[in-house]
Amino acid sequence: MRNKFILLILCVFTGVSINAQTAIKTLPQLGKDPLSRVIAAMTLEEKVNLVVGQGMRMPGAPSEISKNTEQMSPVVGQTQDQVSGAAGTTYPIPRLGIPSIVVADGPAGLRISPTRQNDKATYYCTAFPVATLLASTWDVDLVNKVGQVIGNEVLEYGVDVILGPGMNIHRNPLCGRNFEYYSEDPYVTGKIAAAMVNGIESNGVGTSAKHFAANNAETNRNSLNTIVSERALREIYLKGFGIMVEEAQPWTIMSSYNLINGTYAPESYDLLTKVLRNDWGFKGFVMTDWFGGRDAVAMMNAGNDLLMPGNPNQNKAILEAAKAGKLDVKVLDKNVERILNIILQSPKFKGYKISNKPDLKAHAEVSRQVASEGMVLLKNDNSTLPISDNIKKIAAFGNTSYEIITGGTGSGDVNEAYSVPLVEGLQNAGLSVEENLKILYEAYLKAAKAGRQRSRGFMMGSVPIAELSINSDIINSIVNLTDAAIITIGRNSGEGYDRRDGEGDFLLSYVEKDLINSVTSAFHSKGKKVIVILNVGGVIETASWKEIPDAILLAWQAGQETGNSIADILVGKVNPSGKLATTFPVNYKDVPSASNFPGKVIGQTQPKADKEPDMAASFMRPQPAEVTYEEGIYVGYRYYSTFNDPVSYEFGYGLSYTAFEYSNLKLSSTKFGNKLTATVEVRNTGKSEGKEVVQVYLTAPGKKLDKPAMELRGFKKSKLLKPGESQVLSFDISKKDLASFDPVLSAWTAEKGLYTVKAGSSSKNLSQTATFNLGNDIIVKKESPALLLKDKINELKPR
Ligand code: BGC
Repeated sequence: MRNKFILLILCVFTGVSINAQTAIKTLPQLGKDPLSRVIAAMTLEEKVNLVVGQGMRMPGAPSEISKNTEQMSPVVGQTQDQVSGAAGTTYPIPRLGIPSIVVADGPAGLRISPTRQNDKATYYCTAFPVATLLASTWDVDLVNKVGQVIGNEVLEYGVDVILGPGMNIHRNPLCGRNFEYYSEDPYVTGKIAAAMVNGIESNGVGTSAKHFAANNAETNRNSLNTIVSERALREIYLKGFGIMVEEAQPWTIMSSYNLINGTYAPESYDLLTKVLRNDWGFKGFVMTDWFGGRDAVAMMNAGNDLLMPGNPNQNKAILEAAKAGKLDVKVLDKNVERILNIILQSPKFKGYKISNKPDLKAHAEVSRQVASEGMVLLKNDNSTLPISDNIKKIAAFGNTSYEIITGGTGSGDVNEAYSVPLVEGLQNAGLSVEENLKILYEAYLKAAKAGRQRSRGFMMGSVPIAELSINSDIINSIVNLTDAAIITIGRNSGEGYDRRDGEGDFLLSYVEKDLINSVTSAFHSKGKKVIVILNVGGVIETASWKEIPDAILLAWQAGQETGNSIADILVGKVNPSGKLATTFPVNYKDVPSASNFPGKVIGQTQPKADKEPDMAASFMRPQPAEVTYEEGIYVGYRYYSTFNDPVSYEFGYGLSYTAFEYSNLKLSSTKFGNKLTATVEVRNTGKSEGKEVVQVYLTAPGKKLDKPAMELRGFKKSKLLKPGESQVLSFDISKKDLASFDPVLSAWTAEKGLYTVKAGSSSKNLSQTATFNLGNDIIVKKESPALLLKDKINELKPR
């Protein structure tokens, strides 16, 4: 009896297995058969499943909950499928050989959970400097190298696509996510992003350049209607993405939450098909930001191929529309094809054997190196830095000397194994720090942390700890015990809220100002120096206090090695060569978008920029809200240089321990044909070796279209030049560089007339000039009329 039963089981089992094998043999398989056959073999339900992600799954939550998290939107992506703490996954269809691919955040390094349930191993990733610092290196080769090692972690931890780089323009210094973005300038943004994408993707993994497009504030981010002219869109907000697509062709692009001129970005056919694919030739797929967009069918039609993280209502809506003939299945097939084309290239599809053991030690070295290359020396009176050999003991003031901020909050935060505080970095460099002061700060920080409210709300991170107020008796007693003082000023911000134009944020707090004043006067009275370190993710006010200390180093949020990288600069192991890729204005009100940032909730009053952010009323707000980009193309230095508005530190600014001289700017011709080449010589005239970022700007005639006083058209970082050594750098100037976007013609056009090329060390320090002539007006490139404004807006004009 027992044997008979076993035989029966075996027969049934073998029978099923043979049938299944025969069926699989006849079914087309991804990678083995033409894509068209694979798509033809998919059921409608399978196609719909593929274009909608598998949902979120919080640690410990059963998978049914994961698909029903829509009401929690928007949140930092989180899934436990395959790679714990990744942001999401796609739907697998094993019968056709289609695996599920994994996507994870985010720009400053890979973001996954460092630990897993019932697993003793750890999965830490390297925290690299924030994007704003990377752009401040102006070094595309170095950024490419950072991309290569980030991509290696993506590969070795089993992720297929990293959700970055972030590429939105720094329209306003208060945007809470500026640290995830590169610059106020689209050319810098595009070039640096292309280097990053190429570096990451050289590992055979993908990127998702985000957030496409015009997502320049966090307040009301899910409902904000960005009203912007076609010219400003093309020249400022889209251009960086265009450069990056042309030079790097990323696997994917992430559409943004906001609306552009009345249409949600992920639902915009103009944006995702006309501009991105028809005009720029993008070949990958587009995914939504997490829970972005409202109408699933409109997103399919627009060319937003994948809805992330995905929820069942979206599956239902697409399926019903396809069945009712409201969504053409050919459109769905195209979305599916684009996703499959990328899955085909993925490590998951190729069966890559992951190690879960990237070389974190080697990657930390890269993080340390790039960090010191992107820090910007803002002030260095009487060669305060590098600190002289007789300085042995430092008085370290400021909370963040002890609790360094390595990066911003939200999805851009990385789970690193350790971080190096400034005091530790100083000690590693052979300096000692004043112990009593250290004990005082550490005790204060411990008590403040124990007593504070854990979080200001979803994603906002912990409440910042108020700067410790130190009385003058303590300061005076420390002066005699130490050789110099460092004061660190820290700021943090992140996803989901914007910063404030108030004390303790854009402005220094009373305690911080007092600290700078009293420490400086005490140390100066004994002939000792004071150095301020800015450990910030974005721009702060500097004009009112910058005269006080001897030196100011803008260290940004420089990743897990921040303390070591700062110390490398302070002791002169690295000669600073970072330059600002974003302007430091004198006052917030000078910023051209100050009067219309972050926008307004329709029917309510403007949110106050100087009030503490209120999460419930901020980015989750479902009410319609809008912002009008009245400054048009005059963003950042384009505004300050055209309107002659003074700034505290200009775009492109940054000091070195050595000096550079520019000479011999030469053009290959004084008449523009198809292109020309500018060459300029830079010589190290100082006493130490160093690198210089050479910048080339162009001034175009502006008879038909208003033109900014100048626009950056080229940059290169020199090699490490020895004292006395020089290098000739060359820059190609193409037709594109001459052109502006003419909305009437829907084309990039260049006006005939005289053009001036300027070369130098910052947007204000351009000692070399040369001119050339363009004989005729030319149309450089026609574009699709797209994203048109419904009503005309009053844009800023230079006259
Ligand atoms: C952010 C994206 C991020 C995604 C997944 C969203 O809230 O805006 O930048 O990639 O979450 O975590």
